[in-house]
Amino acid sequence: MEDKVIIITGGAGFIGTNFVRMISKNALDSKIIVIDLLTYAGNIENIKDLIDSKKIIFIQCDISNTQKIFDIFDQYNPEYIINFAAESHVDRSILDSRKFIETNVLGTQTLLEAARRNWTVDNGFKDDVMYLQVSTDEVYGSIEKGYFTEKNPLDPHSPYSASKASADLLVKSYFDTYGFPAVITRCSNNYGPYQFPEKLIPLIINNIVSGKKLPVYGDGKNIRDWIHVSDHCNAIIDILNKSNSGETYNIGSNTEWNNIDLVRLIIKVVRAEMEKNDGFQKYSKFSPNEITENLIEFVKDRPGHDKRYAIDSTKIMEVIGWKPKIFFEKGLRDTVHWYLSNQQWVKKIVSGEYKKYYKQMYERREVLK
Ligand SMILES: NC(=O)c1ccc[n+]([C@@H]2O[C@H](COP(=O)([O-])OP(=O)(O)OC[C@H]3O[C@@H](n4cnc5c(N)ncnc54)[C@H](O)[C@@H]3O)[C@@H](O)[C@H]2O)c1
Repeated sequence: MEDKVIIITGGAGFIGTNFVRMISKNALDSKIIVIDLLTYAGNIENIKDLIDSKKIIFIQCDISNTQKIFDIFDQYNPEYIINFAAESHVDRSILDSRKFIETNVLGTQTLLEAARRNWTVDNGFKDDVMYLQVSTDEVYGSIEKGYFTEKNPLDPHSPYSASKASADLLVKSYFDTYGFPAVITRCSNNYGPYQFPEKLIPLIINNIVSGKKLPVYGDGKNIRDWIHVSDHCNAIIDILNKSNSGETYNIGSNTEWNNIDLVRLIIKVVRAEMEKNDGFQKYSKFSPNEITENLIEFVKDRPGHDKRYAIDSTKIMEVIGWKPKIFFEKGLRDTVHWYLSNQQWVKKIVSGEYKKYYKQMYERREVLK
């Protein structure tokens, strides 16, 4: 990825931030342009140091705004486009799916069209250009036993995963119809620094610190495969460097946890970190000995809650030579440590809009006895 013009959308969100921070260290000769609308999930503070030091160019823009996106492509002539921008939270898609279609489907179509227009030459497309669509394992739906490979049909159940599946199909249609240079990645659940605290791991850490109960959906037996965000970002870089176009790759780490066991583990890790570091205790409403499983509260399940996501990542390991490096228990400890060390960051983003959302989602939710 040397000496390239790279557009990264959604670069102020969780995974986008980690990716931008990683690539701005590695691709020193490249020009990095971040496009982000800065919705509730986007936080410019995450990448402000990179903007200030001119390592990246930041443009606040909606990816579904055709005219603006065309203008940006005309101005910068990107060679790589990595589309992280999305409405990404399943619960929010259940409350209101409209924005999910606008950003995840129409936004993707706008980027594809902008790239197709910019990359077209007499006999096809420019050399050495690639569009990478960041997708999710949720597009395959739920699986009781075994693992989904890239060949499995898509069977999404939530409005979020349906919008991501639609975007995947659009990307595929551009490859099939025009020979457009594109790849799709489908990753499992990410964890790590900079994740918005509406998602399970930072939500539980933040609730412990704020002295709240720990809501767990249904019986807590839903299973997810967890991968550290830096392993996901490395996989994307490896794919951009090595893949042919038209390919799809699952990215997972075979680290399955059911929600209740994971919440129990987070409780233990937070308590241990607090006991080790007096500095962390000043932020917490609970003393370390109050941080126990008694804080867990089972709440009414999410409608249509998929039981288990599990993907087979053999293809990326064999074809690209990538494999995950971060052992889950170590990654989780580092993540808890990051959240406890960055309480100012957390406090700032959970004020305002998030408070309203939290009330709507959890404080009015039926508690199961
Ligand atoms: N978080 C996960 O576990 C996970 C797993 C697999 C795939 N993914 C995919 O990875 C991508 C990034 O996920 P995330 O967890 O970082 O999401 P996020 O919600 O933290 O970040 C999304 C970013 O997109 C921006 N955005 C939203 N709408 C936009 C629009 N219309 N125009 C421009 N920018 C807009 C937001 O401001 C935010 O910065 C998403 O496409 C998601 O579907 C996420």
